[in-house]
Amino acid sequence: MNPLTILGIAGSLRRHSFNRGLLRAAQELAPEGMSIGTFDLLGIPPYNFDEEAVLPASVAELKARIRAADAVLIATPEYNYSVPGVLKNAIDWASRPFGDSAWEAKPVALMGASVSTVGTARAQQHLRQTLTSLNCHTLTRPEVLIGVAAQKFDAAGNLTDPKAREMVGRLLAALVAWTRKLA
Ligand code: FNR
Repeated sequence: MNPLTILGIAGSLRRHSFNRGLLRAAQELAPEGMSIGTFDLLGIPPYNFDEEAVLPASVAELKARIRAADAVLIATPEYNYSVPGVLKNAIDWASRPFGDSAWEAKPVALMGASVSTVGTARAQQHLRQTLTSLNCHTLTRPEVLIGVAAQKFDAAGNLTDPKAREMVGRLLAALVAWTRKLA
């Protein structure tokens, strides 16, 4: 079988971000036949309709990376019970111009880490709604909700908690099956 190319996107720009750390853990735990690359949102400008005619280079690259990937893996923080602006902004850019969305029929898996006990549950719910509007095929289970994150990552943002790592591994196995089923 062809190997699967997954694009990982973390919705945080913070150097020692828990969610960037989650993506690193996913890269370490990727099953055989899956490779996970990442795209850093730092260079994505605020969305501006006036720039749609000639997309900013970073946006064009993001769209190309999403299109080239068999599936997208998003690690989202939770900001005020929802999706951080940098992540929503990038999702919006990649959906434009109208009729040329990079998200069309893309398999997507979600995970997230936050300081509260519910571990991004509310943000992920909002994210699912947005991805539904984009006709993504978002994997429903298993949910990877990593709460009280400071106890599960080390000071450099590496995921150290064994149960959380096991959850990430299970999500990746489900994403392989989901992506192959939809192909
Ligand atoms: C937060 N944080 C947060 N956490 C949470 O569980 N629920 C929430 O609603 C919020 N709201 C929120 C708003 C804003 C503006 C910030 C900056 C932060 C805390 C959040 O979980 C924490 O900052 C994480 O460390 C963010 O993820 P990264 O950057 O470590 O990946």
